[in-house]
Amino acid sequence: MQGPDRDIEILVVYYSRFGVLKILAEQIAEGARRAPGVRAELLEVEDRPVEEVRSGESRAGMGRRRAAVLNRLASADALIVGAPAYFGSMASPVKRLFEDCATASTPFTTDRSRPWRNHRFHGKVGAAFTASGTPHGGNEQALHSILTLMMHLGMVLVTPGQRPPILEHSAAPYGVTAIAGPDGNRPPDQDVQDAARELGEQVAEVATWLVWGRHEWERLRREQRPRPVAGGPFDPSS
Ligand SMILES: Cc1cc2nc3c(=O)[nH]c(=O)nc-3n(C[C@H](O)[C@H](O)[C@H](O)COP(=O)(O)O)c2cc1C
Repeated sequence: MQGPDRDIEILVVYYSRFGVLKILAEQIAEGARRAPGVRAELLEVEDRPVEEVRSGESRAGMGRRRAAVLNRLASADALIVGAPAYFGSMASPVKRLFEDCATASTPFTTDRSRPWRNHRFHGKVGAAFTASGTPHGGNEQALHSILTLMMHLGMVLVTPGQRPPILEHSAAPYGVTAIAGPDGNRPPDQDVQDAARELGEQVAEVATWLVWGRHEWERLRREQRPRPVAGGPFDPSS
């Protein structure tokens, strides 16, 4: 089977105020790069909404800056999205970025909050990571909020699932999560960093299967287009 003539693109999108999510994002990208033919890049989400006009920037300039961000999101084969748990859910800058997701080519006044209409994220692979201050501070719910967002966009979710020893492993089956401690900046334990690299590699593999599978499926579909059959509805001599 001949795969597509390009690398598989993984984009690790994250917001990090104190550095924990940043470390996880770097580890996830490193894990993704273990898979052959995969490129992994980081996209750090800013505190300020992407469509807030910056000082010295025109509205058109903002549109171009936003289009560049959104094109990166839309063109990746997989998005691995990380947000700290804030009040038991994903931190708002990440949600806001997706809420602002317009396509670059449609007028933002009509379509800026309706990315699903453009199906730009359909079939894209997605996975989630987070950190919370305390073990029961909402990390599971934060992962679910990211995964729910992805489900709304029609993405194909990848989760680590339960890991051995089954029902003894402390990791969440829904994604990677670290405990950031009372100051919110405790670096992730080694086993969490390992889990982050594993998730990156897992997503890279699934994205590769999907991209290659789709490439082959499209080739087969092209080859199997209805052809004129003697006596059939496409018979050119009839
Ligand atoms: C506004 C705010 C709300 C927070 N809410 C929670 C929370 O509900 N539960 C929790 O365990 N930790 C909470 N934290 C701690 C963060 O989850 C922690 O600082 C973060 O995971 C660290 O990630 P970072 O280093 O990438 O910023 C909160 C922190 C902030 C700043």
